[in-house]
Amino acid sequence: MNATDCTALLWQQSTPLILPSLLLCDFANLQREAEHLEAAGYRALHLDIMDGVFVPNLSYGLSVVKSLRRVTKLPLDVHLMIANPAEYVDAFREAGADIITFHAEATKDHVGVLERIQRNGAKAGIVLNPGTPVSDVAAVIELCDLVLVMSVQAGFGGQSFRPEVLGKFAELRAFASAKPNLILEIDGGINLATMKPACQAGAQWLVVGSGIFAHSDYAAAHRDLLAAAQ
Ligand code: DX5
Ligand code: ZN
Repeated sequence: MNATDCTALLWQQSTPLILPSLLLCDFANLQREAEHLEAAGYRALHLDIMDGVFVPNLSYGLSVVKSLRRVTKLPLDVHLMIANPAEYVDAFREAGADIITFHAEATKDHVGVLERIQRNGAKAGIVLNPGTPVSDVAAVIELCDLVLVMSVQAGFGGQSFRPEVLGKFAELRAFASAKPNLILEIDGGINLATMKPACQAGAQWLVVGSGIFAHSDYAAAHRDLLAAAQ
């Protein structure tokens, strides 16, 4: 099965689904990391792209996405924390992104960017920083394949979870009542303690960085996180 088929399947998988954020992985051994994560049962990888402009931090860019694409069939969920996402969507798709999300705060042209991602054959989503209300994206929710709710201010791994964002899930679900297959994702500060409230609030995909990479056993981290959701 290729990455496109695996991506389509993600929309049928039972949830919760944990997506490792590679921000803290061993970048000298990307292939080994991808293999370990796949063997540990994760079904997709979350890639945090930071440009030092939209967020005050730099991570990595197209070449890392391209390199990962060569060594894994896991769907690549690319979280763009960049100014001018429209300018880079085609390049990230070309590099191998299967899912592309961009910040509502980074552009006024939500419709244009969502449509551009989908025209390229990728799944598209919009991201809300903690201070951005659901009403800012209400008009485009039905164009989205997924919506990503940040539970920390985008820019850095290892921050503390902000429970006040959890109310957004019920709001999003209400706006998306005509779109039952909309996936709701959460990112930031997800760990054994925050899994359960996040899932109860309605998060289906949970991005986890330090909660996985602080452990040497990725499979045990996966099992423990899923158990904590119960
Ligand atoms: C933050 C990133 C997250 C982050 C998750 O801007 O989008 O994906 O790396 O890391 P933890 O789980 O450590 O908050
Ligand atoms: Zn992220």
